[in-house]
Amino acid sequence: MLSGFVGDIKLDFCVYNASGVHCTSEQELLDLLNSEAGGLVSKSSTFEPRIGNPHPRYFSDPKNKISINSTGLANYGYGYYLDLSSKLNTKPYFVSVATLTELELEIIINKINDTPDIAGIEFNFSCPNLIGKTQLGYDLTATDKLLDFVSKRCKKMFGLKLPPYFEPLQIEILANIIKKYPLVKFLVCINSLGNGLLINNNDSTCIYPKDGLGGIGGASLKPFGLSNVRELHKHLPEMSIVGCGGVFTGQDVYDYFLCGASAVQIGTCLHEEGLQCFERIKQELIQILNQKNIKKLVDIRGGLKVISQKY
Ligand code: DHB
Repeated sequence: MLSGFVGDIKLDFCVYNASGVHCTSEQELLDLLNSEAGGLVSKSSTFEPRIGNPHPRYFSDPKNKISINSTGLANYGYGYYLDLSSKLNTKPYFVSVATLTELELEIIINKINDTPDIAGIEFNFSCPNLIGKTQLGYDLTATDKLLDFVSKRCKKMFGLKLPPYFEPLQIEILANIIKKYPLVKFLVCINSLGNGLLINNNDSTCIYPKDGLGGIGGASLKPFGLSNVRELHKHLPEMSIVGCGGVFTGQDVYDYFLCGASAVQIGTCLHEEGLQCFERIKQELIQILNQKNIKKLVDIRGGLKVISQKY
């Protein structure tokens, strides 16, 4: 009833964590494995371990369902996440990779090609928090070049984590680039809304890096996540799209499927509520589908209706 898919991988339950949330340490990944999440994705990993940006680098305001993060890719290095794969193979396990240099990327891809038990690679094209760097996903020429590089080397199923796009034309251009690379099997959209600013009641920034700028997560992202999923689904109807951004309830998951998603990730809500959010969202979805007499969530995929004016 609630299955989903990411490329050619089926998830028994279509909801799992967003990269970066509860997925940096072995214990966190094991917790996800033992939760109701339908799969799991690691923290974005780099060639070398990174301590990341100075603290405070995460802040959330649960009342307003908003968060800001600037972890700066703190992670244990890609080898750590590959070595864990044999312990995590009872659910689809995706490894997120953040690209720094082509040389490092080549080594990482070769190693992943030889590692069983990894369902796929989520290439992060959209980290907003690297000091002095811009988000790759906003440079469509660089995106094209990197996809060419990855497609020539990668033997595992892979996908891209995209930033939020605000113009339908940008999405059309991006979709035309992606069409050139049939090995891209899934898209995750959207990442946090980069370089937002939250201030607290001491007249100061809520986080320290970049003078307080960081990736915004939470409820305000949902309309942008929905529109990006919807527009990409129109241009790439065969592509698996994993919706992400502002998912707190079963209704949010349902809405992402209506726009064309085939799975959904949870970020801020998982961070705030903890692992029990998966079971709660599952129950909410079951209730929605029963009320609407829908047998399978995937049956509504892309079925959003556009209201027409009646004169
Ligand atoms: C980080 C933030 C992101 O939004 C992302 O996609 C990857 C990494 C971070 O700050 O670590």
